[in-house]
Amino acid sequence: MKFDSTLIELLQNVKSVVIVTGSGVSAESGVPTFRGADGLWKQYRAEELATPGAFFANPKLVWEWYDWRRGIISKAEPNPAHEIVATMEKYYPAFLLVTQNVDGLHRKAGNEKMVEIHGNIWRVRCVEELKESYLYDTPLGSIPPKCDCGALLRPAVIWFGEQLPVDAMNTAMERIQKCELLVTVGTSGVVHPVASFPLLAKSSSAAVVEINVDETPITSISDFSLKGKAGEVLPELWNAVTGKD
Ligand code: OAD
Repeated sequence: MKFDSTLIELLQNVKSVVIVTGSGVSAESGVPTFRGADGLWKQYRAEELATPGAFFANPKLVWEWYDWRRGIISKAEPNPAHEIVATMEKYYPAFLLVTQNVDGLHRKAGNEKMVEIHGNIWRVRCVEELKESYLYDTPLGSIPPKCDCGALLRPAVIWFGEQLPVDAMNTAMERIQKCELLVTVGTSGVVHPVASFPLLAKSSSAAVVEINVDETPITSISDFSLKGKAGEVLPELWNAVTGKD
């Protein structure tokens, strides 16, 4: 892919970067996305699986779906897109990764300066005591899993209709307002509040770059839109930035 020289200079000169990722960044690791042709929401109804109401109505069904997804994720490895995002964290003096992904692959690739604003699929929360812990068993021994106190455990992820973690949101908004460059990778840009992050960056005079296989609502407000697979575009882009191409 041939990159605009202004884009390469921008990436070489900025000091403060926020990267926002969605499920598309993990697609090449074999983790299904939510929207699009093979997306999970084509096959399943979000309101039956990803809301608090759905969970309390049928915890077994919701947990079976999460158990299936945990099984897929347990076999997945970070792909070249995750690797470059981890490299970028070390390169930029001010860096934050905001991910909507619950798969933990960014952390596995080495990112530490990150907020998982939709939670993490390996964490569970007791619905009575509200305490959280990691539960790595896959497949789960018994479904639905229970806390030692006897109450239900739920996945510690954000479901539709639930508030995002306040600390993570504040960190994300604060850093986006201060950054010079925001890069979105593999997100459809339709789920709020993340959908509004590119606009927030623009209103604070940051440049916006989008990497996606398709056009999204972010495309038209992006300064640069790079169409292609994240696992291919990001390594090529980074080679151009670091003079390795
Ligand atoms: P989506 O499934 O909505 O969007 C995935 C995006 O990735 C799409 O725009 C695809 O075009 C793009 N894409 C697919 N493969 C790609 C690849 N190899 N390289 C680059 N782009 C690729 O996923 P999210 O935007 O993450 O929330 O969705 C946001 C939230 O909606 C999720 O966190 C989840 C979902 O419902 C909850 O469950 C609460």
